[in-house]
Amino acid sequence: QLVDKGNHKHFMAKEIHEQPEVVGHTLAHYIDMVGERVALPGKLPFDWTKLKRLSISACGTAFYAGLVAKYWFERFAKLPVEIDIASEFRYRGAPLEEGDLALFISQSGETADTLATLRYAKEMKQHVLSVVNVTTSTIARESDVVMPTLAGPEIGVASTKAFTCQLSVLACLALAAGRARGHLSETDEKNLVRALIAVPRLMSQALALEPQIEKLSHDLAKVKDVLYLGRGTSFPIALEGALKLKEISYIHAEGYAAGELKHGPIALIDETMPVIVIAPHDRVFEKTVSNMQEVAARGGKIILVTDPKGAKEATIESLETLMLPEMASTVTPLVYAIPVQLMAYHTAAAIGTDVDQPRNLAKSVTVE
Ligand code: G6P
Repeated sequence: QLVDKGNHKHFMAKEIHEQPEVVGHTLAHYIDMVGERVALPGKLPFDWTKLKRLSISACGTAFYAGLVAKYWFERFAKLPVEIDIASEFRYRGAPLEEGDLALFISQSGETADTLATLRYAKEMKQHVLSVVNVTTSTIARESDVVMPTLAGPEIGVASTKAFTCQLSVLACLALAAGRARGHLSETDEKNLVRALIAVPRLMSQALALEPQIEKLSHDLAKVKDVLYLGRGTSFPIALEGALKLKEISYIHAEGYAAGELKHGPIALIDETMPVIVIAPHDRVFEKTVSNMQEVAARGGKIILVTDPKGAKEATIESLETLMLPEMASTVTPLVYAIPVQLMAYHTAAAIGTDVDQPRNLAKSVTVE
């Protein structure tokens, strides 16, 4: 398949901008748009109600998608989730109960560590479900069920559209599990499905922040370290923001659960340190605001990614705000991924690194 950059300077920019479209396609594959219900394609070879535990493993950005999914599966389906980085999971000898479900997330479907964990799960007689972008891949072939992400070919080494498509599939799976396990009423499911259907439009609105993000990225390009904070499902987005930035701009960045600020990273904060706070106005927002106050008191420069309600309540001086529209809190990780991707992209572009092929990194890590 021939892929070009269209009007974009880099594949990464093109792939960031494709998200409303590919997320829309992916959601349409898993949702009955008329009935406003989740409709997984095909029959599952396991029964959600019989599962005691779901074990997720993945690497890199796909691991962060899994981390978001943990919050969803536990919340909507009351299904305990264990999640681990595949390279750790494969050697830990974790006990896995026969007949439980193991979930693997991989854009390429060829990541060596993820594949090794899949084989381990099979040996332990788990049901194996994978969320992959390449349906002809080894991971897809060796799985009992494959839930494809319809992101299309992703060329930029740093994953963007595959990530939000993974989140789309995982959200639908968590809702399906919630319904099957009797923890989600029809009305709740409808509301959540409606919230998912709104995502492509919300993503387009997030993309409209690009000029503001480009401008602030010129300042980010001059710093040495950046800290990303978030709570709940915004925590994995903070981790993903830091990963994106370090991968392509080579600026040192760390993502932290906002509540852990006091346990270490607060020592790093001074006037030179930008702190990017991912904080939609959700049930943990107030907690995050108090962490922001701790940063502000030490002179840290805060970039707050939030919505109008959040901006109104975050009464902190000298704050740069990236304002996203209000949305259902379940879908915030999908939409808030966009500003962090754009920040990494424009910072790297301002520095002049090789955005699509950053040094030392590979698109698909097929060796250990
Ligand atoms: C590499 C890529 C990342 C990707 C990770 C996992 O490190 O650079 O973008 O997230 O591998 O790859 P996978 O294909 O399994 O999702």
